[in-house]
Amino acid sequence: MVKKNKVEEKKKLVTIVLGTRPEAIKLAPVINTFNKCIKFKTRVIITGQHKEMVHQVLRIFDIEVQKDLNIMREKQSLTQITCLVLNGLKEDFKNYKPSLVIVQGDTSTAFSAALAAFYEKIPVGHIEAGLRTNQLNDPFPEEANRRLISQISSLHFSPTNDSKKNLVNSGVNGIIEVTGNTIIDALFLISKKDIVPKLKGINWKKKVIFVSVHRRENWGISLQNIIKGLEMILEKYKDVILLLPLHPNPIVREPFLDAFQSKKRVILISPLNYLELVGTIKNCYALLTDSGGLQEEAPSLGKPVLVLRKTTERPEAIAAGTSKLIGTDPKSILKETGTLLTNKKAYQKMSKAFNPFGDGKASIRILKTCEEFLNL
Ligand code: UD1
Repeated sequence: MVKKNKVEEKKKLVTIVLGTRPEAIKLAPVINTFNKCIKFKTRVIITGQHKEMVHQVLRIFDIEVQKDLNIMREKQSLTQITCLVLNGLKEDFKNYKPSLVIVQGDTSTAFSAALAAFYEKIPVGHIEAGLRTNQLNDPFPEEANRRLISQISSLHFSPTNDSKKNLVNSGVNGIIEVTGNTIIDALFLISKKDIVPKLKGINWKKKVIFVSVHRRENWGISLQNIIKGLEMILEKYKDVILLLPLHPNPIVREPFLDAFQSKKRVILISPLNYLELVGTIKNCYALLTDSGGLQEEAPSLGKPVLVLRKTTERPEAIAAGTSKLIGTDPKSILKETGTLLTNKKAYQKMSKAFNPFGDGKASIRILKTCEEFLNL
């Protein structure tokens, strides 16, 4: 008994904070890796920036949460998120005194949690560090969030050599380690299970195009343009089905519902759980998306991605030719999708399985670097 207490005493506390669905997916393998290591105690805090979308993921990966700040409000503002997270974490960090706080990516949860740790003089480990579009406002506010996190972190876990270069060039302090992206760890865990999602109205033998749009910089006119582009695809290609899981945010949800609710070949559904999502990527024909995570997952599963944005912080897949940046102009959406639908060679060229973002061992590398950093 005494012995056990001594071991417990020696363990270092690492607090891992997450708030949105992509953070949950990308931190799940990290949390499980830390939980298995006897040198650490792991405290998982969810901010509640997202609700149902996060809980779904945590259930799939069997993750226990020690605290929920429960900050989500309908149509929440960035200021609200930031203030509530800062205030919510301050006491927890003071009481539990973690040796390290880990955040992931570029959300407002990640930025505010890093800042809260910095204010308490707790070192920050940043996973997925060094992604840049070099356009401060695109994506908004993510580009600013990740730059700010880099400035106050002690450990930077970069997914690729290019992202490490971005950090070196911006002169950040601390240790930079190229680990691969933890999304590939998560993807490998899940894609072992061969799931063909059963979704009402979907016949996977048909050409199903998986569409996902949620980004702030696409709200408004860009969203209307994307909808126009999708309508033009439906009009011209009668064999195509559009599968559209809708983000719970009413700002993006409502325009899609208005445009497509009564259209036969558009399947509007609630956000897919992660098992269904991976199954959908595997079984769809191609993806049209503004999501960052899908740009990483789809090339690993050999599916072409047309990126509905002006910029991307994931140039690796573009360079490899498995993703293409097409913007939000309706004509260009029609043209590029048309090429994938009708030009076999172009399709095959974009659908080779390619894995520039990792080898599934990122979490282990992150753990090892943290051990060294804390002299364990
Ligand atoms: C956030 C991240 C973005 C990430 C995305 C993944 C920021 C600034 N943005 O954007 O980087 O790519 O998550 O989805 O951190 N809502 C619910 N239930 C949920 C989740 C959201 O009802 O489970 C609704 C709420 O009305 C909320 C709105 O969606 O106000 C927007 O959520 P928010 O987290 O502010 O922004 P996202 O667009 O999801």
